[in-house]
Amino acid sequence: MLNVAVVGMGWWGKTLISLMEKSPKFKVVKGVKRNPATEADFAREHKLEIISDYRAVLKDPAIQGVVLCTPHTLHTDQIIAAAEAGKHVFCEKPLSLTRADVVRAISAVNANKVALAVGHERRFEPPILDLMRTIQSGELGTPLQVEANFSQDKFLTLPADNWRLTAKEAPAGPLTATGVHILDLSVGVFGAADTVMCSVRQLGSHLANGDTLAAFVSFKNGGHALLTAILATPFDGRFAVYCSKGWLEVRDKAHPSTPKGWTLTKVVSGDQRTTVEYPPSSSVLANLEAFSDTAEGRAPYLVTQEEMIANIAALEAIIESARTGDKVKVN
Ligand SMILES: NC(=O)c1ccc[n+]([C@@H]2O[C@H](COP(=O)([O-])OP(=O)(O)OC[C@H]3O[C@@H](n4cnc5c(N)ncnc54)[C@H](O)[C@@H]3O)[C@@H](O)[C@H]2O)c1
Repeated sequence: MLNVAVVGMGWWGKTLISLMEKSPKFKVVKGVKRNPATEADFAREHKLEIISDYRAVLKDPAIQGVVLCTPHTLHTDQIIAAAEAGKHVFCEKPLSLTRADVVRAISAVNANKVALAVGHERRFEPPILDLMRTIQSGELGTPLQVEANFSQDKFLTLPADNWRLTAKEAPAGPLTATGVHILDLSVGVFGAADTVMCSVRQLGSHLANGDTLAAFVSFKNGGHALLTAILATPFDGRFAVYCSKGWLEVRDKAHPSTPKGWTLTKVVSGDQRTTVEYPPSSSVLANLEAFSDTAEGRAPYLVTQEEMIANIAALEAIIESARTGDKVKVN
């Protein structure tokens, strides 16, 4: 069992606490919030001490790991501080906003021999695990192209000055909210990206930072990904991989915070089509438990450090392309 502190107790921090307290693999010992008094009821209900000082958590020998659910620009330094204090790290996505920063974070993690996991729960969805296994088996031939969409309208009710709607914390609008998940899955299929083109527009809402993203990613191995992320339309989740001998498509029935299951369609050359229904399960908890397994030495983590770097390198290039309108080479 891993004793953890959850840092940042907003929407997602509280969601993760409620999941971890159901798991025998965790004990949530503390929460960190700048103003703990605002979450006094939650602290009582969840039998949790909330403090305001992250450094105190890092000095606490009873805490073995931190779960970072804070604004994006804080992630890199919080990962490094935790690693240097010998704490394992689960960090919400995106790990960093630049390749240089994620490399610094990963170097600190490795220098201090602690585990690093990232909030890309879509990797842990049972149909995505099956999709990745099928592609890796070679049964469908060469992967050619990804088409993916992760859209939702949850941010329409946020106050206009919320950090998640600012260009500093959320460059390229929907990219850091949802786009980064399907970018990560595409990296899982093709590896490192080579060039990107991206356009972000404000078309269907008051979200001045942009509500509609289209990105075109070319990978070093030749594959393409066409990515859509929209914050002004109801939830949609779709990840399809077209291969030389068939294709696969996962359709999500709901956002990962309220799982309702998935459909996996597989079409093999000759038009043999099968559709499998998957019952609801929490991929968010599966990811957290994989973090605990890695921290306690039971299993390697599914997302490799190479993939973490490749994802952020592509994300940085997409941000630059959205800003300039140019095709951008990935570092
Ligand atoms: N994996 C997913 O599907 C998923 C879903 C939602 C959010 N997230 C991620 O979770 C993280 C948090 O997002 P959220 O929606 O919960 O935001 P939020 O605004 O609801 O919560 C952020 C929390 O961080 C706190 N905070 C701000 N500055 C801080 C600081 N300097 N030190 C400590 N805490 C500080 C805020 O007080 C707040 O409690 C982001 O990285 C986001 O991308 C991931």
